[in-house]
Amino acid sequence: MAAEKIYVFKRFERFWHWSQALLIICMLITGFEVHGSYSLFGFEHAVSYHTVLAWSLVTLWVFAIFWHLTTGEWKQYIPTTDKVVAMMRFYSVGIFKGEPHPYRPTKLKKHNPLQRIAYLGVLLFIGPLLWLTGWFYLFYGDWAVWGVNGFLSLEWVAFFHTVGAFMMLTFLIAHLYLTTTGHTPTAHIKAMVTGWEEVD
Ligand code: HEM
Repeated sequence: MAAEKIYVFKRFERFWHWSQALLIICMLITGFEVHGSYSLFGFEHAVSYHTVLAWSLVTLWVFAIFWHLTTGEWKQYIPTTDKVVAMMRFYSVGIFKGEPHPYRPTKLKKHNPLQRIAYLGVLLFIGPLLWLTGWFYLFYGDWAVWGVNGFLSLEWVAFFHTVGAFMMLTFLIAHLYLTTTGHTPTAHIKAMVTGWEEVD
């Protein structure tokens, strides 16, 4: 039973979250068309949409990094081992038996330990992998000028970019499932819309 409401997601954070979600979904759709998985817009269009979306996402990430650093919100992502085992036990067993959630979010610690690890992985690994390989992909024509022709190959850049895309897709699926595991299936989604989280 929800007993109390706390304001956890600020306005910029909600804007960042939803616009990033939309951009990433569109990047997955256009990216896998470029990859040749299906035909939807046509290859040429998919490439140009993907490029516009990429620049939008990179711009958003720059603002988000600035916001996290200036507000101190980056501290929300510092990993902790506290309650990690309890969380893993909850998501694999407890949740199916209706046991109470082992973690109670607060304004200063809104992410549970598993969320911290997962989001940090996205922010420090999957994001930069897509960003870096995407940039090398985008500026393939300039490799000779940059002097990286000798040790970079387009095949490897494309391979690691695709690996990053599959990792992002896996994260998205797991994230979507976990958003439904609040005290009601839509509680966490509502919190990211309104900013207010209901806690037990
Ligand atoms: C969530 C983020 C992203 C996803 C899911 C994604 C996904 C993909 C996928 C699956 C491909 C096809 C790869 C292949 O088969 O070779 C691709 C191609 C590409 N991506 Fe991304 N990408 C993302 C972000 C970015 C970013 C940030 C950039 C640039 C900074 C970028 C630039 C490119 C370029 C230039 C191509 C190749 C297009 C061409 O063939 O001309 N992507 N992307």
